[in-house]
Amino acid sequence: MQPQPSGQPAAAPPLPRHVAIIMDGNGRWALGHGRARNTGHQSGLGPVRTVIEECVRRGIEALTLFAFSSENWARPADEVAGIMNLFCDALDRELPMLHANGVRLRFIGDLAALEARVRERAAEATAATAVNARLRLQLAVSYGGRQDIFAAARKLAARCVNGELDSNRLTVEDFAAGLALAGLPDPDLFIRTGGEQRISNFLLWNLAYAELYFTDTLWPDFSADDFELALQHFAGRQRRFGLTAEQLAS
Ligand code: FPP
Repeated sequence: MQPQPSGQPAAAPPLPRHVAIIMDGNGRWALGHGRARNTGHQSGLGPVRTVIEECVRRGIEALTLFAFSSENWARPADEVAGIMNLFCDALDRELPMLHANGVRLRFIGDLAALEARVRERAAEATAATAVNARLRLQLAVSYGGRQDIFAAARKLAARCVNGELDSNRLTVEDFAAGLALAGLPDPDLFIRTGGEQRISNFLLWNLAYAELYFTDTLWPDFSADDFELALQHFAGRQRRFGLTAEQLAS
């Protein structure tokens, strides 16, 4: 940190508490290298490690990665099988790295749709890392934002029907308690690689006030320097949450 003329250290640039990422561009990266699409997903593991390590190093509290959407099930069967194999291999291989970094891993999404072997590894990795507290890592697998909101609505209805809640006195917090990311701060920085500028059914509720950062970099090429650029973009934003700039200044 550079000393200021006043002798005071410069304030650290604001850091997001929670980063959410759509890791897009694996297929194009592979095709651009003359390889099959699944090698792009394999090459996407390196940046996953990099971003986890960068979040830990910088003291970011939470990271949520969109690894497989509800809609990705409609991809060619061999690609889906390749991604599921990749999840199993990665969960087996990367557990020591997650532990070494103090990462608590959790899965969000419709896990019931996964093959038993993937579900079992996900449950094992979740249990094995439950004691860790430096970074909360959510892998969104078979996840859809609309499905998440719908599931929360169903939970709320069930709590009203069983008498736990009074339907005339519901709060936004009662609703949000049923969402996949309940208990975590909302993501304040959203990153999408691969050049598309859309949310694609990711975290529709939780991204309400996130700063959006889009980059043309394809996910397998996403580096620590690219992550730094996204953080700089975040640090340069004025977050107003519906207020005026004058209100914030006063
Ligand atoms: C989107 O790229 C990427 C995916 C559907 C899969 C992402 C998965 C990984 C990066 C592996 C992560 C694994 C773990 C265990 C976290 P795309 O195929 O849509 O790319 P395209 O737009 O170029 O076709």
